[in-house]
Amino acid sequence: MKIAIIGGGYVGLVSGACFAEFGVSVAVYEADSAKRAMLLEGKIPIYEPGLDRLVADNAAAGRLGFPERLGEAISEAEAIFIAVGTPARRGDGHADLTYVFAAVEQVVTQLDHPAVIVTKSTVPVGTGQKIAELARRLRPDLEIDVASNPEFLREGSAIPDFMRPDRVVVGADSERAREVLRRLYRPLYLIETPIVFTGLETAELIKYAANGFLAMKITFINEMADLCESVGADVNDVARGIGLDGRIGRKFLHAGPGFGGSCFPKDTLALMRISEEAGAPSRLIQSVVAINDRRKSALAGRVAEAFGGDVAGKKIAVLGLSFKPETDDMREAPSLPLVEGLVRAGALVVAFDPVAMDVARPLLPAAVTYAPDALTAATGADGAVLVTEWNEFRSLGPQLAGVMRGRVLVDLRNVFDPVAMKAAGFAYSGIGRKH
Ligand SMILES: NC(=O)c1ccc[n+]([C@@H]2O[C@H](COP(=O)([O-])OP(=O)(O)OC[C@H]3O[C@@H](n4cnc5c(N)ncnc54)[C@H](O)[C@@H]3O)[C@@H](O)[C@H]2O)c1
Repeated sequence: MKIAIIGGGYVGLVSGACFAEFGVSVAVYEADSAKRAMLLEGKIPIYEPGLDRLVADNAAAGRLGFPERLGEAISEAEAIFIAVGTPARRGDGHADLTYVFAAVEQVVTQLDHPAVIVTKSTVPVGTGQKIAELARRLRPDLEIDVASNPEFLREGSAIPDFMRPDRVVVGADSERAREVLRRLYRPLYLIETPIVFTGLETAELIKYAANGFLAMKITFINEMADLCESVGADVNDVARGIGLDGRIGRKFLHAGPGFGGSCFPKDTLALMRISEEAGAPSRLIQSVVAINDRRKSALAGRVAEAFGGDVAGKKIAVLGLSFKPETDDMREAPSLPLVEGLVRAGALVVAFDPVAMDVARPLLPAAVTYAPDALTAATGADGAVLVTEWNEFRSLGPQLAGVMRGRVLVDLRNVFDPVAMKAAGFAYSGIGRKH
């Protein structure tokens, strides 16, 4: 079986390499010539654990290729996956489908055989039908089916997520599309992964509903953290106490600086717009978006409070920049408004991140300096802020006392033990914990 994937970003590259690992012949077409050149040289433009090895192995086995021309990539492909970006449109928050429709148009005009076009990109409800109309209009001579196969992988654990997903969702209105996708996902079916077949619109909505729900869960525990701070309770214990209830579940109950990343912010915004336009506005999602925005823009103020209200002239070490560990993705990272706010308030920020500094540098104020490791960043600092919970920071706690000048420690991920940190002389503040 041969398939093509249009877009060699996080989702396209991971799905392409994983489908190749299933034994399928995969051509990933990436429009950006610089990225394509890297891929051809065996270099991976993004950081994702294990991806370099998986790509190299499958390329060497002849199952994964990066053709220079789209026509070559889609030649003889039974399924063509669209995995291009769908960022929030400037101004109104709708998902911007420019890349999706451009990719579909390029594909259908060059296609010379019947095929199934599958959206892996997260697209608003109704997009699949619009793609089908476009394909019918441009190529009335060809049988082109459309399916929706939303992706649920998480950056940082994308390969295990793809190889052992909780479920696969396939939305399709034709038996041929269902049959092609059933065959493609057979290796997962054999390990008893539930494959949920639905109509196109339902599959499209499942993706937004899943991300909306998870964003809501994070926002809920963040609000509980604020309440904990006011009443002297501990949010970690609240999360454990409610999370052990099987109806609630323990995941996505980590209080923190507010959600970021390439998906939740844009998908909650898009879901808000989709529901408003459909005449069934989601008040819950509207609140999630507003609460999270407010939380992230208040981060610099929270840190200033730990310094007694003023950070002007203070040297502050910022530990972690990416929106979560094990990725260099900086999209909507809480570190962005935090660092910008601190610099605006006159702080001297020294930042360190194990992998995201190159991506972060052009996004952060020019005044920020960067250190080669966490302890160097903290050396001589008046205070430190832990923003991303990279594993290597977990054991740092008491070592920080040996190198820092001041003793302010703001832990936005509740990584450190407050008792140990206070014993080490720190003015420690976590999220939703008694200080
Ligand atoms: N990143 C995630 O964790 C994740 C998880 C699930 C779903 N998604 C969804 O998957 C989609 C892709 O996300 P991503 O993070 O991989 O985006 P990305 O920006 O990393 O990658 C998209 C790639 O597509 C390329 N591209 C754009 N137009 C093209 C065209 N016409 N032909 C060939 N290549 C083209 C771009 O150059 C880019 O490299 C989005 O809709 C996103 O919401 C992302």
